[in-house]
Amino acid sequence: KSTQSDLSRLVRTADRVVRKTFEVEMQSFSKLHARYLVEKENRRELDWDRIKSPNDKQVIPYDYLPQVSGSAALSKLAVLKVNGGLGTSMGINGAKSALEVKDGMTFLDLIVQQVEHLNTTHKVHIPLILMTSFNTHDDTLRIIKKYVSQDISITTFNQSRYPRIWKETLQPCPKHASDDKKHWYPPGHGDLYESLVHTGLLDRLLAEGKEYLFVSNSDNLGAIVDQRILQHMVDTSAEFLMEVTDKTKADVKGGTLIEYDGPMRLLEIAQVPPDHVDDFKSGSVHLFPSLIIPQLIMCKVRKFKIFNTNNLWIDLKALKRVMNGGGMELDIIVNPKLTDDGQAVIQLETAAGAAIKHFKNAHGINVPRSRFLPVKSCSDFLLIRSNIYSLQNGHLYMSESRMFNSVPVIKLGDHFKKISDFQSRFKKIPNIIDLDHLTVTGDVHFGRGVTLRGTVIVVANEGQRIDIPDGCVLENRLVSGNLNM
Ligand code: UTP
Repeated sequence: KSTQSDLSRLVRTADRVVRKTFEVEMQSFSKLHARYLVEKENRRELDWDRIKSPNDKQVIPYDYLPQVSGSAALSKLAVLKVNGGLGTSMGINGAKSALEVKDGMTFLDLIVQQVEHLNTTHKVHIPLILMTSFNTHDDTLRIIKKYVSQDISITTFNQSRYPRIWKETLQPCPKHASDDKKHWYPPGHGDLYESLVHTGLLDRLLAEGKEYLFVSNSDNLGAIVDQRILQHMVDTSAEFLMEVTDKTKADVKGGTLIEYDGPMRLLEIAQVPPDHVDDFKSGSVHLFPSLIIPQLIMCKVRKFKIFNTNNLWIDLKALKRVMNGGGMELDIIVNPKLTDDGQAVIQLETAAGAAIKHFKNAHGINVPRSRFLPVKSCSDFLLIRSNIYSLQNGHLYMSESRMFNSVPVIKLGDHFKKISDFQSRFKKIPNIIDLDHLTVTGDVHFGRGVTLRGTVIVVANEGQRIDIPDGCVLENRLVSGNLNM
C-alpha cells in the first residue's frame, strides 16, 4: 500500500505532456512489484526433479525444416530489434548498437542493410522496428536519421522506464518523475509486449496486414530473417518459436527451454535454486550410484543441452489475443545492483522468451551457432570487429581465409572490460585470422598492424605495462615483462 501511494505521488510530479504515458508505466510497474512481493512471501522454488528436457517435438533441428521456394510469407513479416539495454557489462553509456563494427558502420547500420537487402531481393516492404529505452533512444535516432529519405520503413519506440527499488525497504528510489537517470532502468526485453500495446504499435502492425514478428537482440548480427523458420511457423500454425542453439562450455548463463508441469517454459539462471546453479551452468546433472550398476560411482546426464538465443518468432494475432485476455505474467528476474555510491537496489525485470508459455503450439528450433553472435563483452567485440568475419549485405560471415571452422577463444582481462579502455588499448584491431587462443591480462597496449597466430598469452604484472609494437607478429608466444623481439 505504501508503494502504491509512493507511486501515485510520483505520477503527480510528472510533467503534463508525459503524465499519461508515465501513469500507464507506473501502473504496470505497480503490478509487477505487487507480484514480486507476493512471490517473495510465498517463496516456491522450482522442484528440480520435475524439470524435464524438451522432447524431439518440442525442439526441432533446423536441418529438418524444408527449403522454401516462394517468399509470400515475407510480406506479412515485421522485424523488431530489442535495443534498450543499458550495456553495463561493457561500461557503455548509451546504445551498444551505436558502436562501430566494420567499415565505419555501426550495428544499427548493418541491421538496416540486412533488412534493405531482404526487401530488394524479394521485392517486399518489411518494416524495421527498434525498441529503445531512455538510455538508448538518442543514440539510435542519431544513427537512423540518415535513412529517413530511403525506401525502408524504420519505426522506433521507447520501452518502459521503471523505478529501481531500495533493497532494504523495497520502496521506489526516485522521488520525482524527472529524478536522476540512476534511479530508473529499462525492465528487460520482456517489457516488449506491454510496450507494443501501450504505444499502439501492435494495432498498427495488424492494421498494416503484418502477422508475424521476428524479434532479436540488436547486438546479435547473426540474427537475420530466415525464410525456412518463417515458413515453418506458417505451416505448423505455431504461435511462438524460440531459436535455441547447442550449449558449449562457455555458455554458462543463457536461459534454457524446459518442460515443467505441461507447457514449455524458459528457465533463466536467476530462477535456478542455489544448489543447482552448477548443474545449470554446465548443462549436466549429477546422478548418484544406481542400484542397477552399483560399480558406477557417479554419472552425469546432459539435461540442458540447448539455450535461448533470444531470436523469437511471434504470431501477432495471437499476441493481441493474449494481451487482451489479461496480458502476460512473465517470470520475474530479480536483478540486484549497487548504486555508484554503494547503496543496494533491486531491478525487477522480465525476459521476452518467457512469453513462450502463453502461446499455442509454441516450440523451439535448434539453429546453427552462426545465428547467435552476441556481443556481451569486449572479447566478443574484438572477435566481430576482426578479420575472422567479413561482411555481406550487413551480415557477418566467417572469413574464407580462416583455415578452421571454429572461432578463436579470446579472453581479455579487466583492463579491457570497459569499451573506452578497449578502444584506447587497440590502436588497430590485430590480424587474428590464424589465432586459436588469446589471453591478455594487465596493462597491455596493441600497436597497429599486429598479427596474432596460434596461442598467444600476454601477461603484464602489477605495475608493469606491455606495449605490443606496430607491425609485431606473435605466434604461439607467451609474453610477460618486456617484449624483446
Ligand atoms: P542483455 O540483457 O544481454 O543486456 O540484452 P545488455 O544491455 O546487452 O547488457 P548488460 O547486461 O546491461 O551489460 C540483450 C538485448 O536485449 C536488449 C539489449 O539492448 C540487447 O539487445 N534489452 C535489454 C532491451 O531492449 N531492454 C532491456 O531492458 C534490456
